[in-house]
Amino acid sequence: MMRLSINVDHVATLRNARGGHFPCPVEAAKLCMEAGADGITVHLREDRRHIRDRDVERIAAEVQTRLNLEMAATEEMVAICTRLAPPACCIVPEKRAELTTEGGLNVATPDPFLRQAIARIAARGTEVSLFIEPEPAAVEAAHALGAQAVELHTGTYAEGAVARRNAELARIAAAARHAKALGLACHAGHGLSYDTIAPIAGLPEIIEVSIGHFLISTAVFEGLGVAVRRMGGLIRAARG
Ligand code: PXP
Repeated sequence: MMRLSINVDHVATLRNARGGHFPCPVEAAKLCMEAGADGITVHLREDRRHIRDRDVERIAAEVQTRLNLEMAATEEMVAICTRLAPPACCIVPEKRAELTTEGGLNVATPDPFLRQAIARIAARGTEVSLFIEPEPAAVEAAHALGAQAVELHTGTYAEGAVARRNAELARIAAAARHAKALGLACHAGHGLSYDTIAPIAGLPEIIEVSIGHFLISTAVFEGLGVAVRRMGGLIRAARG
C-alpha cells in the first residue's frame, strides 16, 4: 500500500490572493479525502504566505484524515505541533525568500535544536519525518537524530533533466531500501506529476507520497471547462 497525501497549500495561495475565504483549503481537504486521498499535508510557513494557523486547526478538527504538518524546526512551530499533536509532522528546511522547499535538511551538521524538536514532537505521539536528500548518509543521520520516518526529496528526479531521471531514480531506490533496513518509514515528495509518479510508486519501500503543486494546478485545467459551462448555463437561464 502506498498512501497519497495531498498538499493543499496552493488552495490557500489562491484564497489569500483575494483576501477572502474562497477557495477554502479545509473544503479542499475534505474533497481530496472524498476522492480517495489517504492524507492531507499543509506547510505552515513562518511568514504564513499560504496556510494559516486557523487552517491547520480546522483541518485537524474537521477532516477525517492523516494530517501531516510540514514545518521548520523552530520553537514557534514545535509549540503549535505539540499542541495539535497531528498524526504526522515533516520537518523541512525553510528559507523566507524561497518559492518552495529547495532541498533536503542539513542532517550532516544539524542545528542543535533539531534533535530536541524531534523528541518533543514524537513524545506527543506524532510520527516525525525529516525531508532529506535521497542519500544513504542522510538516511543514517535522520535515524541517528531519532526520526521515525524520512521523506526523500524527489525534486531532482521529477523536475531535473529527463536524461538524469534513471540515475536519480536509482539514488531514490537505494535510499528507500536503506531507510527500510534501518526501520524508518519511507516517504517521498516534491515535483511529482502524472508523468513521474509510476516509477516512484513502483518502489515498494516508499509507503507515502506527498503531492501538491501539480494536482492543484491540474485541477484548474480538469475543472475549468466544467465551471465555464456551468456559468454559461446560469447566464443563459437568467436571460430566458
Ligand atoms: N514534500 C515537501 C517536504 C514539500 O516541501 C513539498 C512542497 O510543499 C512537497 C512535498 C510537495 O511538492 P509539490 O508541491 O511539488 O508536489
